[in-house]
Amino acid sequence: MSAAPFPDAVPTLDIGDYTLRGWSLGDARDYYAWMADAEVSRYLGRPLADASEAEEEIRRFLASVRSGRAVRWAVEENTTGRAVGRCHLFRWDAQNARASIGYALGRAHWGQGVTSRVVHAALEWALGADGPALHRVEAAAAVNNVASTRVLEKMGFTSEGVLREYRECADGYEDFAMYGLLRAEWTALDTGSLLAVPGRDTGRDAAVAGATP
Ligand SMILES: CC(C)(COP(=O)(O)OP(=O)(O)OC[C@H]1O[C@@H](n2cnc3c(N)ncnc32)[C@H](O)[C@@H]1OP(=O)(O)O)[C@@H](O)C(=O)NCCC(=O)NCCS
Repeated sequence: MSAAPFPDAVPTLDIGDYTLRGWSLGDARDYYAWMADAEVSRYLGRPLADASEAEEEIRRFLASVRSGRAVRWAVEENTTGRAVGRCHLFRWDAQNARASIGYALGRAHWGQGVTSRVVHAALEWALGADGPALHRVEAAAAVNNVASTRVLEKMGFTSEGVLREYRECADGYEDFAMYGLLRAEWTALDTGSLLAVPGRDTGRDAAVAGATP
């Protein structure tokens, strides 16, 4: 039996120019700034209407962390200190050592490999030797969401089937593909080459810089 106990705290993961760290209510304004963007929320639900909705959502994030259902990171841009993205491991199933992953980034930061590095760091923590050692991470991505699908493929996820008209998105009900990644697959992967961008420290060693409640 390989249960994966929920961690005591959300770990802080340093990926160089960005940091994955726990959410705080003080992030609401920054979170709203990019989650109000219809392009960002196209496959996630509706755009946030105002900053108070952003605060409500962050309250729910924090509650799910407290109750051991999710590890939720804000992606902080180090130069500004702003939360410009999110990466969450939710539906934490300790008994089956399994969780789902989701991510989003403010549009100004798209297309620079940031999400690839963020997701890589989250997976290395979740599936690697120094974290909870989950057995499986899964993700559901809209078939039409090319960027998200590519992130998962780069990280070695396998498409396991299509869930027809699974979620109502901005343009109506969309088909979603279910993806899965097993710990053994992650361990066998040459993760350095996944992120090969000259001059970037992106390999297996996203440093765990501490822990936030
Ligand atoms: C999905 C998302 C997080 C990707 O963020 P990103 O930081 O731009 O991703 P990366 O720069 O790491 O790119 C990852 C891969 O996708 C490709 N890609 C990115 N945007 C793309 C696009 N619009 N069309 C095609 N490919 C794209 C990149 O080229 C890269 O592949 P490569 O390394 O083979 O070149 C971002 O588009 C986003 O926030 N979208 C809205 C929220 C969302 O849909 N989240 C996923 C829900 S399942």
